[in-house]
Formats: sequence, C-alpha cells, structure tokens
Amino acid sequence: MTLPCGAGSCPLSVPDRDVRFDLPVGQIRRVAASGPEVDETKRNFLKLAAVAGVVGLGAGGAVAGALQYVQPPVVGLTSYPTVLLLDVDGKPLTIGKGSLVAPSGPGPYPSNILSIDQATLYIFYYPLRNEPNFLINLAPTASNVPGGIGPTGSIVAFSAICQHLGCPAPAIAYYPPGTCSETPGGKSFYIHCSCHGSTYDPANAAANLTGPAVIPLPQVVLMVPSTGPNANQVFAVGMNGAPVKGHINTLQGDYGVGNTSAVATETPVHLCSFPA
Ligand code: FES
Repeated sequence: MTLPCGAGSCPLSVPDRDVRFDLPVGQIRRVAASGPEVDETKRNFLKLAAVAGVVGLGAGGAVAGALQYVQPPVVGLTSYPTVLLLDVDGKPLTIGKGSLVAPSGPGPYPSNILSIDQATLYIFYYPLRNEPNFLINLAPTASNVPGGIGPTGSIVAFSAICQHLGCPAPAIAYYPPGTCSETPGGKSFYIHCSCHGSTYDPANAAANLTGPAVIPLPQVVLMVPSTGPNANQVFAVGMNGAPVKGHINTLQGDYGVGNTSAVATETPVHLCSFPA
C-alpha cells in the first residue's frame, strides 16, 4: 500500500494490512530496508556457533594446558647405574676384612663392617628411590649361590617387594634356619611374605618355593672390584628377572638413588604361618 504524499513528503511503502507474516514460533525475520529478506534466526545461529567455536578452542587449550600439570611426569633412568653401597655407618661397604660375613659372636663390630645379624633386615634402595632390596648373607648355611659375592659367594640381594601383590619389607623378610618349624619347599631357610604366604629360595635366585606368587623376586646384580681404588667395595650394577612389582619397568617410576645407596636396618616381621 502506498500512502499518499503530501507536499515535500516522499512515498512510503508499507505492507498492506492484510499481508500475513506467517512465521514459525521462535523465528526472527527482519525486513531489510532494501535488498532481500534476512533470516535472523540463521544469522544468530551462525554467530552463536562462531562464538562457541572460539570459546571451545580457548577452553580446550586451557584444559590441555592444565592437564600437562595434572599428569605425573614419567621419571626414571635409561640404564642401570653403578651404585656404591654404603654400610650402616655411611662408609663404603667393603669385603675382605671380615665384613659381610656372618658374625661369629656378639657385637660390637668395627664401624666399617656390616655384621650380618640374621635377625635383622638389611635394606638398600636400587636403582630407584622407591625400590627397596634385601642384602642377605646366607653363610654359613649356603655358599657359591647364583649371583653370590663375598668370601664364600653367599651374599645376595633381591627386591624386597613381594611379586604377588607387592607387600614390601619388613612384611616380606629373610627367615634364617630355625626361625620357624615349617620347611616350605623342603627348605630350612627362605624368604617369606607374611601377607599371603609366598616363599622364595634365596639360594636359587629367589625362585618360588610356594605361592601364591608365581615368579621369582628380581635379583640385584652385585659386583666387587678386585683391584683399583674401589677394590673390595660392593656395587649394585643391575637387576635380573621380572620388573619390580608395581613397576611396568624396573627403571621407571621414580628418580634414581644417585651414586651411592646406604644400607639401613629394619626389624623383620617373622610370622610362622603358612598356607596349607
Ligand atoms: S603380597 Fe606377598 S604373598 Fe601376597
């Protein structure tokens, strides 16, 4: 409909009164001053999508940025280090002057001697700070055992974390002869985990004597140079066997112990109760 123009006025076109804007509920439609009709619903949707995309990208970046701080870093070593063991007094653990030999009598002993009292656990960490190991002297009961060092090849070291469900020392401990009347696997001395009863043979690379564990304890490779400035000192240089329980890889899961690792004493939990 065209309104009549007065003097100096311009014609103004407006829709006829009977023109129906038959629009769906929720749809916004603006009539342009000139040009085609614009669908504001679509336009707003596109604007919203664009804004959401920008916000989403920003939020995604923020989440990714935050996650790099939430995820624990994988720490560990790339190879087995050579680590000098220290005795309970912090001095190099040395073989040759009676050290690491089962004491023949009651102490006190010279400070640089690790007098292996078999009622005590000797624990050192290697290769990582959360991987404890036993240092065991099987003398005089056994000699020249696999991996054994010392005057009679009786000194061995194994992971002090049970390969069943991971109970650590002192729940898993060395049982010297006479500790209990039972003889699992026919052995009078063994490593026994009091959590569920697994036993291991320290004279045979910690092979399983009884379950529920089904694999041996990892064994620490010990080395004693015979000459040079470190002659007769005891080094840990590697580990044999399965990964330490709870670790995908014995070399990953914590930081390394460094160049030295001190032996510490613990009181074992000796429990003479074995599964039938
Ligand atoms: S954790 Fe040692 S026997 Fe189960």
